[in-house]
Formats: sequence, C-alpha cells, structure tokens
Amino acid sequence: MSGIRLIQDGNVYEVSFIPGKNLLESGLDNGIPLKYKCRKGSCGVCKIRLISGAGLLTEANKRERKLLSDDVKAGYRLACQATMGPSAIDD
Ligand code: FES
Repeated sequence: MSGIRLIQDGNVYEVSFIPGKNLLESGLDNGIPLKYKCRKGSCGVCKIRLISGAGLLTEANKRERKLLSDDVKAGYRLACQATMGPSAIDD
C-alpha cells in the first residue's frame, strides 16, 4: 500500500491510497477527517499540502491548476482531484 504524507489546517496525516479512489476518498476511507465540501474541484475546502509521496500522484489537473495557481508548485493539491499515478500501484 502506498502512503502519502500531507498537511491540512496544521494537521499531519498519512493516507494509504486505495486503488480506484482519489486522495480524498482514500483518506476518508482510512478514517482521516479530511475537510471537503463540493468533491468537484471548485470550492477549495479540500486543499492540502503534500509532505511526501508527491511522486505517487498524477499531475495536477485543470481544476487544481485553476484554483491553486502557483500553489501547485509549492506542493498544494486538491484532495478530491488528486489521483494515484502508475508508480503508486504495487505489483
Ligand atoms: S472538495 Fe471542493 S475542491 Fe475538493
């Protein structure tokens, strides 16, 4: 299982990716109280900053780039939009 360390509102969490689920869904299924609202990439409530494991994710999508702008380069993502990349899939 591949883990992502992230911070949201000053709280540090470790999320294990669940195949077929995005970062928010994986976190919630792991019992992590990530904040969210729209789940569509438009409200920004699920914004998180990656501490480690960024390489496990696919690139930021259009909605993330629009809402987060330069913050994407600083490691910020929208948990409801961030999905697992091919390198996160265990053999
Ligand atoms: S929950 Fe609204 S942008 Fe992710």
